[in-house]
Amino acid sequence: PKITYFHPDGAIDTVEVAEGTSVMRAALANSVSGIVGECGGQAMCATCHVKVRNDADLPEVSEDEDEMLDCTVDERQENSRLGCQLIAGRDFDAIEVDVAEHQV
Ligand code: FES
Repeated sequence: PKITYFHPDGAIDTVEVAEGTSVMRAALANSVSGIVGECGGQAMCATCHVKVRNDADLPEVSEDEDEMLDCTVDERQENSRLGCQLIAGRDFDAIEVDVAEHQV
């Protein structure tokens, strides 16, 4: 699977990831800036805020994710998701996300 990260300054990172890797973990593992992932992927910190660009067939936002998305530093958008809840292979084969400008 492939993840493309678009940064607020116009930079773009594209990474190939193994199935089972989240959008948050993939960023940390590949030194993609702008994603913090403070809680380690438990939908408890909202520092992995991304906005999904492509119309990927993603699972619905869970109740936990929904609550955390109301706590993002950058204002929540309709396409906002927690990067830690989006899993390569399970949820998408290719995804394009805008990294939130501020995570903390
Ligand atoms: Fe904490 Fe995603 S890493 S909510």
